[in-house]
Amino acid sequence: MNFDNNLDLMNSLANDIKTCKLCQLSNFRKNAVPGEGGFKKKLMIIGEAPGYYEDQVGRPFIGAAGKILRNILKKYCIDEDDVFITNIVKCRPPNNRQPKKEEKDLCIRYLETQIELLQPRLICILGNIASSYILGLKSLTRERGRIIEKRNKNYFITYHPAATIYNRELLSTFENDIKKLGEIINNN
Ligand code: URA
Repeated sequence: MNFDNNLDLMNSLANDIKTCKLCQLSNFRKNAVPGEGGFKKKLMIIGEAPGYYEDQVGRPFIGAAGKILRNILKKYCIDEDDVFITNIVKCRPPNNRQPKKEEKDLCIRYLETQIELLQPRLICILGNIASSYILGLKSLTRERGRIIEKRNKNYFITYHPAATIYNRELLSTFENDIKKLGEIINNN
């Protein structure tokens, strides 16, 4: 299975996401945000949930945190054709609050199907909320920056780029982690 073969299925899944009414977040959204990217290097990046700007246009990581992420990805030779970027929750929670457990539980089916269709070689998870939900990790600080194999999949955990806005000291570690991620996907 590869991205090209599954393009129709990915597109039809994106339509399901855009018209989804499974949870109350659909009442507040302007646009659902299914995810985007060429996936040439079979890398998937998963964040928490769309914010204001993402909701405005239906694209992931295009606000302040997204600019940090996208600039650092580019710096370490991961471009938009290489990676599929998405979130656990596909609609913006009001006032950018954290997604509730029931919202994550209802939305995770879309991420699971995306993973099944794309078959990523490596899944990079950004931040505490996403890594504790997907992998049950208690400490991001201890687990970040290296490959973790779980249920036959390879994961790489790092900080959420938004965390580097509030705590500038995290920026160099985040950048180093993305550098390592670039080396992994570009050298294999
Ligand atoms: N933060 C996220 O987790 N995802 C986005 O798409 C934007 C900001």
